[in-house]
Amino acid sequence: MVLFDTHCHLTDADFDADREDVLKQMASYGVRHCAVIGYDLESSRAALAFVQGQPGFCAAVGIHPEHADTLTDEVLEEIRSMALSGGAAAIGEIGLDWHDPRNPERDVQVSACLRQMALAREVGKPVCFHVRDAQMDMLTLLKEHRELITPGVMHCFSGSWEMAREYLKLGYYISFAGPVTFKKAPRIQETARQVPLDRLLIETDSPYMAPEPVRGHRNQPGNVRLICEKIAELRGMEVEELAEITTENARRLYGMGQ
Ligand code: NI
Repeated sequence: MVLFDTHCHLTDADFDADREDVLKQMASYGVRHCAVIGYDLESSRAALAFVQGQPGFCAAVGIHPEHADTLTDEVLEEIRSMALSGGAAAIGEIGLDWHDPRNPERDVQVSACLRQMALAREVGKPVCFHVRDAQMDMLTLLKEHRELITPGVMHCFSGSWEMAREYLKLGYYISFAGPVTFKKAPRIQETARQVPLDRLLIETDSPYMAPEPVRGHRNQPGNVRLICEKIAELRGMEVEELAEITTENARRLYGMGQ
């Protein structure tokens, strides 16, 4: 069984003490691929450097909405050159996050999101979206800027099936993380049952969002198997079949060969 963790932060300091062990454990669970996602300039550089020596891994470079106020012209230029360097498979994570009142002003987040979508369009890369407490505004923004849309994924999706369907209509993939395994998550689980198989992705968002039964601990890419098992159970499918399909979807999105 070959699994693809489509969203993790393996370069985070949380992994500094045991990164080699985490990589070994990943391999032992069949997690042969992962996308290491940047969220600011430093983590984007780190993600790009890290995946160079790791066959089957890819990187995304971009500025998270939480850091939208750092997206100067110079920063955008560096992201452009990283995206064009060949090592970066995607632009992300970018998006809108209304959750934390300390986040940059909404208009600053919208501007950073649109500029990076335009960059993705320009360099021909897919986009990883982070959307929190802003689903309706994100949808409206996308519909108003259809000319900027490239293939992409709504990461750690936790919305309703109705909302997922709107993103699917725009061509996006829907990716599920730890919350789909939680005991009281009927809405996300219903969405995970409904998303068409050719648009379904799985991820850990590690070190965050640990799934059941390791909820509350540091998460790691090897745990993507738990997401795969849960969604296979919800859909009444074999785990191996879902692993194969989601891995193929991720390869297609990130433009990776076999
Ligand atoms: Ni993330």
